[in-house]
Amino acid sequence: MKLFLDTANFDHIQEINSWGVLDGVTTNPTLLAKEADGSKDYKQMLKDICAEVAGPVSAEVVATDTEGMLREADELVAIADNIYVKFPCIPAGLAATKSARAAGIRVNMTLVFSPAQALLAAKVGANFISPFLGRIDDAATDGIDILEQCIEVVKNYDYPSEILASSLRGPRHIVDAARAGSDIATMPYDVFAKLVKHPLTDVGLQRFIDDWNQAREALGA
Ligand code: E4P
Repeated sequence: MKLFLDTANFDHIQEINSWGVLDGVTTNPTLLAKEADGSKDYKQMLKDICAEVAGPVSAEVVATDTEGMLREADELVAIADNIYVKFPCIPAGLAATKSARAAGIRVNMTLVFSPAQALLAAKVGANFISPFLGRIDDAATDGIDILEQCIEVVKNYDYPSEILASSLRGPRHIVDAARAGSDIATMPYDVFAKLVKHPLTDVGLQRFIDDWNQAREALGA
């Protein structure tokens, strides 16, 4: 499963990228707004992220009509070669996806909450389809169950779309998404950082270091 960071924070992206496990980045208008301090505009922020990360970087349109979405998509893909344009899963977004794909623009269909929406996104050729698990859980429905249904309907017909599990809130979500066979999972920095943590790793490491140091002289180290 490919692992993406769901953030526009450059320092966080650099840090996780240094681990050698980062396959891409997803942003959205909220995440970009969170990092805005007036020192660089959103295009420069995206450009910097695209230069740091070799894989796909998703950037979202804010227009809600097809024409406006396509205009914004043209501006976004001009920023860097690895931009994937996020269109919302609404009728105008489906139409925009169809046109954008025909023009060679890569698309991440976002705000997907049902397998029916995933099927439509696959039919218009979205490269990535993003079910929002955490927000589904928030609505007292099982996000993992919806993810499994999205995977099933897309894979049943061999659509080339990749399922991108989104809105993930903790390591359990990532493990469940991997067990369900999701192609990609995107997560915030704090969730990514938790993936590597285990108390027994820390205790075990300390013990190895202490034992080594105690016998250092005898070991000739
Ligand atoms: C996906 O691409 C979205 O940016 C994201 O996962 C939304 O997550 P949230 O529900 O934590 O805002």
